[in-house]
Amino acid sequence: MANLAAQLTGACVAAFEAEGLEARWGAVKQSDRPELADFQCNACMGAAKQAKTNPRELAARIAPRIAEHPAVARVDVAGPGFLNIVVTDEALSALAEAVRSDPRAGAERASETEKIVVDFGGPNVAKPMHVGHIRSAVIGDTIVRLLRFMGDDVTGDAHLGDWGLQMGLLIVAVKDEQPNLPYFETGNDGPFPTDPPIDMEDLSRLYPMASARSKEDEAYMSRAQAAVAEMQAGHPGYRALLKHFIQVSVAALKTDYAFLDVSFDLWKGESDVDALIPDVVQLFKDKGLAVEDDGAVIVDVARQDENVPIEGKTQLKNPMPPIMLVNSRGGTGYHTTDLATIKDRVDTISPDRMLYVVDQRQALHFEQVYRAADKAGLFSADRLEHLGFGTVNGKDGKPFKTRAGGTLRLSDLNAMALEEATRRISETNLSGDIGPEEKDEIGRLVARAALRFADLQNQRTTNYVFDLERFTSFEGKTGPYLLYAVARLKSLLRTAKADGHHPGAIQIESAAERKLALTLDGFTLALNLARDKRMPHFICEHVYTLAQAFSAFYGAHPIAKEADPALRASRLGLCEAVLAQLTVGLNLLGITAPERM
Ligand code: ARG
Repeated sequence: MANLAAQLTGACVAAFEAEGLEARWGAVKQSDRPELADFQCNACMGAAKQAKTNPRELAARIAPRIAEHPAVARVDVAGPGFLNIVVTDEALSALAEAVRSDPRAGAERASETEKIVVDFGGPNVAKPMHVGHIRSAVIGDTIVRLLRFMGDDVTGDAHLGDWGLQMGLLIVAVKDEQPNLPYFETGNDGPFPTDPPIDMEDLSRLYPMASARSKEDEAYMSRAQAAVAEMQAGHPGYRALLKHFIQVSVAALKTDYAFLDVSFDLWKGESDVDALIPDVVQLFKDKGLAVEDDGAVIVDVARQDENVPIEGKTQLKNPMPPIMLVNSRGGTGYHTTDLATIKDRVDTISPDRMLYVVDQRQALHFEQVYRAADKAGLFSADRLEHLGFGTVNGKDGKPFKTRAGGTLRLSDLNAMALEEATRRISETNLSGDIGPEEKDEIGRLVARAALRFADLQNQRTTNYVFDLERFTSFEGKTGPYLLYAVARLKSLLRTAKADGHHPGAIQIESAAERKLALTLDGFTLALNLARDKRMPHFICEHVYTLAQAFSAFYGAHPIAKEADPALRASRLGLCEAVLAQLTVGLNLLGITAPERM
């Protein structure tokens, strides 16, 4: 059965239609004034204005029609024509009961679903991930979980960065260190050894060295550029090395992502679409969209309407720069691999839509790519969405850096969060009988909840300040606070059971119980908002509000200690409903609570 807000909207829509008015007036939402009503509809003023009638009179005609709905106890007309709706205790009891027994904890599926590719993570082979990559991983993973849960057919792709200059730098660095490897023998077409000649330590050591050197040493930079060009042109030894680099990097990445419970369906990379590039370039040429420019091939994506007349002459205000399909060395870069990847996804997955969870600072790149894809007829631009996100800043307001001034690696971030979480836990009174192994596991879950929730609770597009101390606190709007709420619920139910007190039929009566049940009703709305706007913070808001409503209920009433057996059973049942919805909600955020804390 639909949630109460949706049922009441249905009743209200029917009431407006019966009055000869449009369905759109019928939206019912939870009341802003819970002391007056549970739900409200504010449309009578607007509808009356349009129909040129009196709003209070209109409201007075609508109210009795809504009151016929079995869930409704009372409808009041207030002020200029507000409809204030109070629902029955029975309706709220049934709702909580439904949440408790539903594996989806009351969350309805979306009515229209799509086949969607989510491009997120975007780690680069060998280059350390910075906090932006971590945001992409956490937000993207949550979007994948959410869309899938709502019924979309979702494929999450890591889209590894493995085609750019960094590969050339690594090839040169490995060659200088181990010049006798078979990959570097002229004329050697393989087969090459299956075991990589380097490990992750080597990559993390070699890449920063090579990158720094290339900035000072022109000859070194030229060698790296030449190596990328050769690799892209198909040099067998370099291709084999590329495979090793990818293999070694991906293994390390998987370990780091696992800490955050981030996973991907596909680990494709830029290099995987290499074979499609000639076709894509040809497509642009055939459509007359490609222009030769100093040995490079470019595609103009600026629009006429972006031209603004300045002093009588037409000039571009924000000229959208052209994209570079092929550079003057014959190489291909970020634009081209993204276009070829769109083609690859169309060919292999045929999705309705592609979402890109990437730093907002790449907005221009995606706008260029989307326009180009649209122009060439590869994919329609209105079904390509860039879900940009803000920067993670340090306390100084500038993009977050480590103390040494470098970018923060995911592995270091995880380690820092684990350390802080462990410190917190040792300060807190955990249940006495928790042993060291369970303690370690709790530490990992707290660290993950802290990092993920701190990131997801912000509106995606805003910046936030990195503050591990705040993130790991058990108080306030944090992941650990929510874990604590779940652990408390679990322990309460466990203890009650041990005392022979079992959950039973839910009967909502008191104000705190009503508030809690109404909060449960808001789950579907929160998920719909999060899905429509691609904004995970709506889920965070919901689980946090629910945990708070539970706290208020817990403070207002005895639960397991209630003397009346039916009331006790009902309150324990309500606890089960809350636990179920918190668990499902947190799971969508990639957060798992320990059994106890
Ligand atoms: N590897 C890129 C970077 O580090 C992110 C990739 C984003 N996805 C894409 N399809 N371009 O900036």
